[in-house]
Amino acid sequence: MPSPHLHLAAFVTAGPGRPGGWRYPDSVPGWLSAKYYQNIARTLEDARFDLAFFADILSVPDRFGGSLDSQLRNGALGSMRLDPLHVLSSMGAVTSHLGLAATVSTTYAQPFTVARSFASLDHLTDGRAAWNVVTSFQEAEARNFNRDEQFPRELRYERADEFLEVTGKLWDSWEDGALVLDTETPLFADPDLVHPIDHKGEFFTVRGPLNVPRPPQGYPVVIQAGASAKGKDFAARWSDVIFCSHASLESAQDFYREIKERAAAHGRDPESVKILPSIAPVVGATSEIARQKYEKLFDLVPPLGGLSTLAYHLDVDLSTFPLDGRLPDVEVPGVEGHYHEVREMTEREGLTLRELGKRYGGRVEGGFIGTPTEIADGLERWFTSEACDGFMLQAPYQPGGFEDFARQVVPELQKRGLFRTEYAGKTLRENLGLARVQPGEWRHRVRRDSAVRA
Ligand SMILES: Cc1cc2nc3c(=O)[nH]c(=O)nc-3n(C[C@H](O)[C@H](O)[C@H](O)COP(=O)(O)O)c2cc1C
Repeated sequence: MPSPHLHLAAFVTAGPGRPGGWRYPDSVPGWLSAKYYQNIARTLEDARFDLAFFADILSVPDRFGGSLDSQLRNGALGSMRLDPLHVLSSMGAVTSHLGLAATVSTTYAQPFTVARSFASLDHLTDGRAAWNVVTSFQEAEARNFNRDEQFPRELRYERADEFLEVTGKLWDSWEDGALVLDTETPLFADPDLVHPIDHKGEFFTVRGPLNVPRPPQGYPVVIQAGASAKGKDFAARWSDVIFCSHASLESAQDFYREIKERAAAHGRDPESVKILPSIAPVVGATSEIARQKYEKLFDLVPPLGGLSTLAYHLDVDLSTFPLDGRLPDVEVPGVEGHYHEVREMTEREGLTLRELGKRYGGRVEGGFIGTPTEIADGLERWFTSEACDGFMLQAPYQPGGFEDFARQVVPELQKRGLFRTEYAGKTLRENLGLARVQPGEWRHRVRRDSAVRA
């Protein structure tokens, strides 16, 4: 049964985010304060959002001309990022239902640390943790972790597969009920119910057990955003939630169909994979006010700020191409999904690279600019035409972009019966309509046909 209502996640940035957004007069520059994130968390929970999501990267990108300038000067997406897990802990302390999702890379982290962090967050928040599994895509990140260049894409996904195999084993290493807390016996934890995992694989050797009991959700919710063929296969096997980005309703529908088919081919119920394209709506009391707001935001985007972000997303030095020419065909070591999106934009609108930089930095995914009613109309159209199971909301500026949406668009969605008015459950899995993961339930998801691991 498809979900009767859509799901909403908020893409919060623990830094300035969009290159024009931080310069908008209503933007509040509180990125280094816990209170700032706690206020956003309360806004999202009052509006009954499923979750707050934090993307992450592990470098200040220098892909544009080999310099940090374009990121730092323009306050572009990669200029500054706090560690999302710490930010989430502070948000978890002032909320009781909002899901809390952090991005952690399988390429540079270790499974024991990651399994422990997310199990801890899941306990501390009574089952609200989610992990956005990324494989990382920039050379600048590799250089912060003892390497001159990235691992090839194939290898990154091989490692990610084994990473999830190991974290699963670690979350299962305490059976449910292992923590007895019998003060008389005494029996704090039952040693018969806590098991080493003795994992020896291609990339990891981990004895276990974890030093944290089995998480309330079984496993935290797993989110993924891979867009290459490998990425989509990985997402269809492992993800509860898939985050994507599309330049049109049609490409969102194609992606939706493909992922649901891939999930079914892996023996999964397609309904158990929730696909959330990103949107960045600009809301106004009238269409004219919304349009003026958008134009003001767009004016504040420096073309080089947007191009710099696109350069790091693609991991291609775009400073080598003429600003008044078109984006040429390039090999993309970075995020293929973003490349498809900008190619579609360039071809449809005949953009030069300079224009593309501005458009990419100030893009309004889905094109939702208007009154709450107009935006709700657009979201309803996407939701009912099999383009998505909900949305990942980006704010054109923080925190006002979330407040506008929560206070104006959410009530309109609720009035139409498209969005919940109360949380259905306590845990994030319950609110997403997903069952708690049973021990060993995901073992068969590990890919067994790999050349590297054969
Ligand atoms: C919408 C979207 C958001 C993403 N967010 C992040 C992120 O926060 N951090 C990160 O390292 N990668 C992020 N990625 C990158 C992917 O997770 C993946 O690592 C990258 O796309 C390379 O894999 P691919 O070749 O399968 O696309 C994102 C990708 C997309 C499409």
